[in-house]
Amino acid sequence: MDLTELFGVEGTLLAKLENESRTGSVKDRPVRWMVDDPRTDQAHTVVEASGGNTGISLAVAGRELGKRVIITMSRKMSPGKVRRMEEAGAEVVLCPCVGLDSPANFINVAQRLGAEEGVWYVDQFNNPANVAAHAEGTGPEILAQVGDGLDCFVAGAGTGGTLTGVGRALKRRRPGIEIVLADPVGSILAAHLRGEQVEGGPYLVEGIGGDFLPPLLDFDVLDGAYEIDDLESAAHLAVLREAGIRVGSSSGTAIGAALAYLRDNPGRTVCALLADAGDRYLETWQDEDWLTGHGLPVMLSHP
Ligand SMILES: Cc1ncc(COP(=O)(O)O)c(C=O)c1O
Repeated sequence: MDLTELFGVEGTLLAKLENESRTGSVKDRPVRWMVDDPRTDQAHTVVEASGGNTGISLAVAGRELGKRVIITMSRKMSPGKVRRMEEAGAEVVLCPCVGLDSPANFINVAQRLGAEEGVWYVDQFNNPANVAAHAEGTGPEILAQVGDGLDCFVAGAGTGGTLTGVGRALKRRRPGIEIVLADPVGSILAAHLRGEQVEGGPYLVEGIGGDFLPPLLDFDVLDGAYEIDDLESAAHLAVLREAGIRVGSSSGTAIGAALAYLRDNPGRTVCALLADAGDRYLETWQDEDWLTGHGLPVMLSHP
């Protein structure tokens, strides 16, 4: 979708709408690739650590495959995600919002559950099929849709699968293309790319950024990063919502980074990946009271 006019940019702002996928997020793709594995057949239960979207896609895939699905997720994430996973028959284990050094961290809990007999921990943070799904699927699809005019691709990083896979596919075809990380203020990833070591801080945007380096994120594929705070992400979501496009919080961050890139590189063509649908944020990022309660903008203009 072309968002150039909506955001009034100098250049071209395109959006890859992953909110339109079957289970409402970009995670449909890696989940399809990851469950296509003999370990799925051998297990009675699949376990995954998720920011919610992988959990929703895996819950649906697991139901179709007749597998028990257990998803571990941090309490920070929207309750709408839990509902969607449970509706699809998955069991959700909510974990405290603590770092990887704590045994209670959602990834560590998934790892422990995955060590049990007959249980397979899918492990999107280390599973190469996560990157392959984007290198073979999302990346070539973007090239087919946008053609050779693309100067820059922008996305956030949770596992890093999207940026690494899409980045490698695009650079293979167009070596000059720039791959840009959209990082929430409070995440350590953008600082790491600059060669700085910082402590992570809190932020409300879901599914991207973090306080550890995701093993699949290939920093060599990245050409730059922009740090976008919750306030700015919410402002962009408000613009999108007014235009009838309801997407998740990380899409606001991706738009923020794409706009920053176009400010620095006017006239260029950039594609931002909007990772998930707004339907899972009805009590949070799509709710006026929640936004106001967190000091975030609800509407930017009133007709
Ligand atoms: C909302 C949202 N946006 C973006 C991403 C980033 O995707 P990836 O894990 O491929 O880096 C995720 C991943 O969990 C997500 O949930």
